[in-house]
Amino acid sequence: MIDPRALPKAELHVHIEGTFEPAQIFQFAQRNNVQLAYPNVAALEQAYKFTDLQSFLDLYYAALAAIRTERDFEELTIAYLQRAQAQGVRHAEIFFDPQAHLERGLSFETVMNGLWAALRRSRSEFGITTALIMCFLRDQPETSAMETLELAIPHRDKIIGVGLDSAELGNPPSKFQRVFDRARAAGFLTVAHAGEEGPSEYVWEALNLLKVSRVDHGVRSMEDPKLVTHLAQMQIPLTVCPLSNVRLRVVDRMQDHPLKRMMDAGLRCTVNSDDPAYFGGYVADNYSAVHEALELTDDDLVQLARNSFTSSFIDDDTKQLYMAEIDGLVAAI
Ligand code: ADE
Ligand code: ZN
Repeated sequence: MIDPRALPKAELHVHIEGTFEPAQIFQFAQRNNVQLAYPNVAALEQAYKFTDLQSFLDLYYAALAAIRTERDFEELTIAYLQRAQAQGVRHAEIFFDPQAHLERGLSFETVMNGLWAALRRSRSEFGITTALIMCFLRDQPETSAMETLELAIPHRDKIIGVGLDSAELGNPPSKFQRVFDRARAAGFLTVAHAGEEGPSEYVWEALNLLKVSRVDHGVRSMEDPKLVTHLAQMQIPLTVCPLSNVRLRVVDRMQDHPLKRMMDAGLRCTVNSDDPAYFGGYVADNYSAVHEALELTDDDLVQLARNSFTSSFIDDDTKQLYMAEIDGLVAAI
């Protein structure tokens, strides 16, 4: 059996704020004089029992109170890159949620400068190429997203695309059609969370109205045969996050996860960690979990790793280098 950590892979769906580990939350809170609602790490971890997406988001946003400075963003990102390296990540496309920081009084520059201080060292220090994707919080008004987009435009050289995250139900992609039109006109690629808790109709909207290059999650697409046919024909990548789906009760048990059925239907699936500090594992742990529960073969795992590179936004030459690394590993087993 292939060790999933040894498999070179791209991670295409990870929220940097979702990599904030409990110990680091307390470390930052202490040095920034921020009072948390929990007395210690163990008490905080006890609260990581989620019933749905919103119950997780409430904790995820609350923990961000501990992040105040550029140094915090830099250290958060370096800690992720260290873990990602140990998980065999060669390329990471990282989401961030500026609105969650702006509303706490931080500046867009504090967020960007901190993230960038880490990412500019990533290739040389960790052997990981990176890209940044800025997400709009879909439970905030369209006007807030538009203002955030204007703040990002001067940083277009450091931000490859925009996405859509936070509470999905009741916040369809159509709400952000004008924002995404403006983002594409400014040169950003687009992705969106769709079909995680929301219906397959939201996946259609993400494709048709937001013109996304990838769908984040998309697991509920399986409820719509016409959509499955379309996604398969167009080879639209889906960034599936199995441990997240179990922890947020999108599926009851890992054995019920649709990933294998999605692959068998010809969908271009990738496996990712989403918010690894909250969901019990980083990206290779997600590969291991589906390998065990869904009886995936080594070939399936290799296919998922190949899909992660073909679905990424890196240039073709770098893509070929990473694919050759996979070929090398396959030839050696
Ligand atoms: N923000 C962080 N993780 C998320 C998820 N899984 N779905 C929607 N918004 C998120
Ligand atoms: Zn996500």
